[in-house]
Amino acid sequence: MSDETTHFYDYVLSVYMQGMLGAKPSLPMSLDGLEKRAREKLDPKAYWYVAGGAGMGDTVESNRAAFQRVQLVPRVCRDVSRRNWQTRILNTVATAPIMLAPVGVQEIVHPDAELAVARAAKSVGVPMMLSTLSSYSMEEVASELGATPRWFQLYPPRNMELAQSLIQRAEASGYEAIVITVDTRQIGWRWHDLSEAYLPFLLGQGIRNYITDPVFRGLLDETPEENPRGAVAKWTEIYEDSSQSWDHFARMKEMTRLPVLIKGILHADDARRAAELGFDGVVISNHGGRQIDGCIAPLDALPAIVDGVGDQLAILLDSGIRCGSDIVKALALGAHSVLIGRPYVWGLAVDGENGVREVLSRLLAEFDVTCALCGFSKISDITRDAIASSRIAPRTG
Ligand code: FNR
Repeated sequence: MSDETTHFYDYVLSVYMQGMLGAKPSLPMSLDGLEKRAREKLDPKAYWYVAGGAGMGDTVESNRAAFQRVQLVPRVCRDVSRRNWQTRILNTVATAPIMLAPVGVQEIVHPDAELAVARAAKSVGVPMMLSTLSSYSMEEVASELGATPRWFQLYPPRNMELAQSLIQRAEASGYEAIVITVDTRQIGWRWHDLSEAYLPFLLGQGIRNYITDPVFRGLLDETPEENPRGAVAKWTEIYEDSSQSWDHFARMKEMTRLPVLIKGILHADDARRAAELGFDGVVISNHGGRQIDGCIAPLDALPAIVDGVGDQLAILLDSGIRCGSDIVKALALGAHSVLIGRPYVWGLAVDGENGVREVLSRLLAEFDVTCALCGFSKISDITRDAIASSRIAPRTG
């Protein structure tokens, strides 16, 4: 691990310097403004596929409300002139405790999709978690990423040989961990998408990892090139299997030498079970409020999980991370890293690779300045002491 000072704050200085030359940032600085710009640009079906939440949208709101309820208590008069946010999550070294969340079918917002995201991730040094349902194959994305760390998110398919094949391909193309998502066995009640009868996968989008897979191709009577609809039909048969339980996922863990995490954990007992079965980490997530309406916010679920298994598992968190102080709050409550979801998709929609780079650079700069103002200069400084909320008991033991 290097002890170099990070320069995320240079972003802020460069914006003000450009102002001296009369130039203002071309992309809206507020995330709401960026989302608005994306909405103007996108087909409404694509916009709602990304923005929409399950049911009444209460979970999307609760995810934000959870962050708003937690307040930071800054400490002053400390030397914060040299700051270093580098961290190791399992075998992956990252310049900051931030990763890109797996977001499927990005071609609906930009033709360069995950390739643009990979180029942006590479330029700022943020690790990328690639979805099974990506618009470009895991090999194509890996070659854009070069040496940038990457993890592969697996939707556990019905067919175990296919699971094995996807995992082997991920290993062969340099992915450093496998993340099994378990909260999407069925698609949630998404009325925006239902009203338009819109599910991009059924139009052949977002299934490139399947149609490039030798096991999947072996299940077809005709190639996906000869009969694209036949490939989609087969995909709907094998995409998921809601009978699968812990034992199946434990078998998938045995298919690889890579660390394996479970994404979609919200209960401390489930996290404990993951630890008992030898998984390496959990992503505390409610899928950005897209699955269950009225679901607990990951930030609210975090303290109990950290108290239960925080010393045994890597703990990542997503759903509702929108700004630098959200990252500080999640870390203070015990997460080791956070995943950024919708914000980078809005950047991608508005300005491709550059839009994603802007979103990430801004988040890193805001995280850095928030930490500096709170009196932190390294990750181990960020503890529960930084949190004012009376709801959060100090960590014991
Ligand atoms: C997702 N998410 C997701 N998760 C996953 O494990 N595999 C996937 O393919 C997808 N696809 C996906 C598509 C879209 C359009 C969205 C918005 C989200 C969930 C994602 O990884 C993450 O959990 C959420 O995005 C976090 O919520 P916020 O912060 O984006 O609101």
